[in-house]
Amino acid sequence: MNILIVGSGGREHSLAWKIKQSPLVKKIYVAPGNGGTAAIGENILIDSNDIPGILKLARDKKIDLVVVGPELPLVLGLADALDRENIPCFGPSSYAAQLEGSKAFSKFLMTEAEVPTADFKVFEDFNQAQEYLKKQNYPLVVKADGLAAGKGVIVSSSLEEALEAVHDMMVKQVFGKSGEVVVIEKNLVGEEASFLAFCDGHDFILLPSSQDHKRVGDNDTGPNTGGMGAYSPAPVLPEENYQETAEMVIRPIIQHLEEMDRPFKGILYAGLMFTKDGPMVLEYNVRFGDPECQPLLMRIESDIVELMMACVEGRLAGLRISIRPESAVCVVLAADGYPKQYQKGRVISGIEDAEEDPLVKVFQAGTRLENGKILTNGGRVLGVTALGVNLKDAIDRCYAAADKVNFEDRYLRRDIGRKGLNR
Ligand code: AMP
Ligand code: GLY
Repeated sequence: MNILIVGSGGREHSLAWKIKQSPLVKKIYVAPGNGGTAAIGENILIDSNDIPGILKLARDKKIDLVVVGPELPLVLGLADALDRENIPCFGPSSYAAQLEGSKAFSKFLMTEAEVPTADFKVFEDFNQAQEYLKKQNYPLVVKADGLAAGKGVIVSSSLEEALEAVHDMMVKQVFGKSGEVVVIEKNLVGEEASFLAFCDGHDFILLPSSQDHKRVGDNDTGPNTGGMGAYSPAPVLPEENYQETAEMVIRPIIQHLEEMDRPFKGILYAGLMFTKDGPMVLEYNVRFGDPECQPLLMRIESDIVELMMACVEGRLAGLRISIRPESAVCVVLAADGYPKQYQKGRVISGIEDAEEDPLVKVFQAGTRLENGKILTNGGRVLGVTALGVNLKDAIDRCYAAADKVNFEDRYLRRDIGRKGLNR
């Protein structure tokens, strides 16, 4: 098979690495890819949001399966466009992708499907939102309806903060059209975890639990990022609770969309908060998380291409997934200054040394390959990922490997996985 992976982050490098292990695969293309994917397949310089460009590439290269990493091309209708030409795509239709692309859509669907989630109201009018805020208790959460690169959620501790957030979104339009509609919801308290499933429109296969670290600083301080590290499994969601949790947060959504004749195919990612009243859904994503993907893929033993094709063809029911029993940890090496200003073009050294441990893999994110050298080319640069007999062992191996990798202005969190150890 010829496979086309769409995207350019650490997630996409880990997908390329895992897909390459499948005996079904002949050639891998990545659009646009990064320094890591260049060593596995052929990078093609087409933007992942250029739907006609990706479509033409898939046609020209006789692609048998397109695997979409990020959400935006899905929201923009890449799966639908490929479907019209009978090119298999791992990733949902633009309709189903609204689960991530519109928070209002997602919340209404959760209500209809009776999924536990924070009480909410949706506003299209600034004055009405303002009047509503004046009558509420705080903290309260204000969310831009559309995609905002992870920045569209403001947990407001006071009326002033909430008013400013709503003003920024609806009047100043700091997120453009994404903030024309806002969702205002109750603040939930608890520990978070990510719970992902392969879905074929009717059936699903669960992946083990994982946990992201969104804030830039140790002990969850500083601004939000795309994710500074992740590990799996997350003890806050132990294996004995997977099935029961899935019946609350995965099955109702899959079933509801199937009943609407809008089947969900691809990865459904539930972002959960474990509150004192049980798990509640904070959000759905319609793809693998980045960096959760990296530790999850290190733990999957099964042929991922077979699983993806089964999702596309609606035949997950007969399949099982084989998961390594070890824990996996991914620590992101970022460029100092991220998520704000940072430098690019620094030379990276030590990746081979780090990978001398057979249980370590260094996935590249913001990198590019130039004259045989790997250079930094983004905020999140690498995702050093390790397996270990338990979480502590995986953390130790991961940091030992991370400390062998160097580039100027390297920054990392030192506490990835600690919450899991504390449990
Ligand atoms: P989202 O993009 O909806 O996942 O929100 C991003 C982050 O904001 C989540 O990972 C949570 O840390 C936080 N968040 C979102 N909704 C809530 C809520 N209702 N209560 C508390 N924190 C929230
Ligand atoms: N790591 C969180 C996300 O990919 O949305």
